[in-house]
Amino acid sequence: MKIALALVLAATVGALASPTTAAPPSVLVYKSPSCGCCKAWMKHLEANGFTVTSKDMDDVQPIKDDLGVSAKLASCHTAVVDGYVIEGHVPASDVQRLLKERPKIVGLAAPGMPPSAPGMDQPGKTPYDVLAFDAKGNTTVWAKH
Ligand code: CU
Ligand code: CU
Repeated sequence: MKIALALVLAATVGALASPTTAAPPSVLVYKSPSCGCCKAWMKHLEANGFTVTSKDMDDVQPIKDDLGVSAKLASCHTAVVDGYVIEGHVPASDVQRLLKERPKIVGLAAPGMPPSAPGMDQPGKTPYDVLAFDAKGNTTVWAKH
């Protein structure tokens, strides 16, 4: 009986650990309660399979300071997903690639408020870059949009 039970437990643990059953990582978004474009960006992530929760705060700056988001990278909201920081209106496709490739960086940023970025969605096509940044504040272009 003991052996049978152990086999059942092993099978159960194996099923839970299977990558095919892994839920999409959840995103925690720090934002101001009055920020409409932040909510629109969260909807964009949800539409792309992410689970999204948010923490409202009048001033997101202390979170940015804690997470190493410098003034030149800053946008409205600051998010955390699976150990990475996502600053501003970064497209879901960039976050998905980040989680797949898992580079040694702090996170991604879409500085400012790019008018064509998801959640901003202003008419026309204004090019913008998504930047990868490290703990020393170095940046590289992660994606051009
Ligand atoms: Cu915004
Ligand atoms: Cu925002």
